[in-house]
Amino acid sequence: MIRADKKLFTPGPLNTKASVKEAALRDIGSRDYEFIEIVANVRQELLKIAGTSNDNGYEAVIMQGSGTYAVEGTLTTAIPEGGKVLNIINGAYGRRISTILDIHNIEHLDIIFAENELPNINIIEDAIKYNENIKYLSVIYCETTTGIINPIEEIMKIAKNYGIITIVDAMSIFGAIEINVNDMQIDYLISSSNKCIEGIPGFAFVIFNREVLVNTNRKKRTLSLDIFDQWKGLERDGQFRFTPPIQAILAFNQALVEMEAEGGVIARKAKYKRNAAIILKGMEALGFEKYLDNDKESYIINTFRYPKTIPFDFTTFYRRLNEKNLVIYPGKLTNEDCFRIGNIGELNEKDMETLLDAIESVVNEFKAI
Ligand SMILES: Cc1ncc(COP(=O)(O)O)c(C=O)c1O
Repeated sequence: MIRADKKLFTPGPLNTKASVKEAALRDIGSRDYEFIEIVANVRQELLKIAGTSNDNGYEAVIMQGSGTYAVEGTLTTAIPEGGKVLNIINGAYGRRISTILDIHNIEHLDIIFAENELPNINIIEDAIKYNENIKYLSVIYCETTTGIINPIEEIMKIAKNYGIITIVDAMSIFGAIEINVNDMQIDYLISSSNKCIEGIPGFAFVIFNREVLVNTNRKKRTLSLDIFDQWKGLERDGQFRFTPPIQAILAFNQALVEMEAEGGVIARKAKYKRNAAIILKGMEALGFEKYLDNDKESYIINTFRYPKTIPFDFTTFYRRLNEKNLVIYPGKLTNEDCFRIGNIGELNEKDMETLLDAIESVVNEFKAI
């Protein structure tokens, strides 16, 4: 028996179309010529969404595992021994990069900004200017901790002025923002299957500047996560080195078709913005305070403070909504109690209204205590 989907107001894994799930209901061999063609197609489509192509000097590689696997794979492949990284942090995923760099003994300078602030370009430039041994920069595009969208174009410009190689974790926003990796001079860009392309979980991907990776004088740090070897494997015979997440790739291939039919990146961004606008207006009307100031755009996910005027308990709040098949997301801030509502995935305006109605009724329960 297939049970009903829950509505996932999360940053992914998220709701997917029935056609996407159906595409996964199939057995097909990992060395099957049909699968090899699908993998090649997915890689080409990813390049298109990144505004580039093989002819423009970029490659797309699929990595088994979740987004973090590809982040770790990229950092450990892109940065050679002795390489030093400037890591820009304004949330948990920036801190995770720092943890990965520590584990692999990769030297890094962290510049830490407040979780509700955009990274300051002048501070970044000074850090690069006064630390001549910094040759790499890592940054999160949409810091999912709060939903804040960092000024990647400006950061890339500064980095390139100083000849720095750039690594952008675009996990939660790729597919829902116009990106041209050539124009933006992004060397490595990372995202995963279960975010804004709206596939099911199972793999991540890296879009990278071929010349930059080929010219990296690296000593191998990892077997399974090595981006270069993964790429070489796929280039050799179109096959994965190790067991691929076949069904997740079949679903993703369908998700790409659906996305194109919907109007691509522009339409997806517009859909999420519509969802976000409804939530922001409705939550304000219910007395919830948004964590980010209004001048910070955050249409992927929004963070709200726990209300202080009612006897609010997040576990009860979460559970009561979950009982109605509505799934929200806990907070991840270092020093404030908050929760998050995601706008991405197969959610429409009616779903957002349904959530708001349910939140209102739980709030009324709290008020009645
Ligand atoms: C910006 C960002 N980076 C990295 C990750 C980690 O991805 P995963 O949980 O798939 O490993 C996430 C997950 O939401 C994310 O939003």
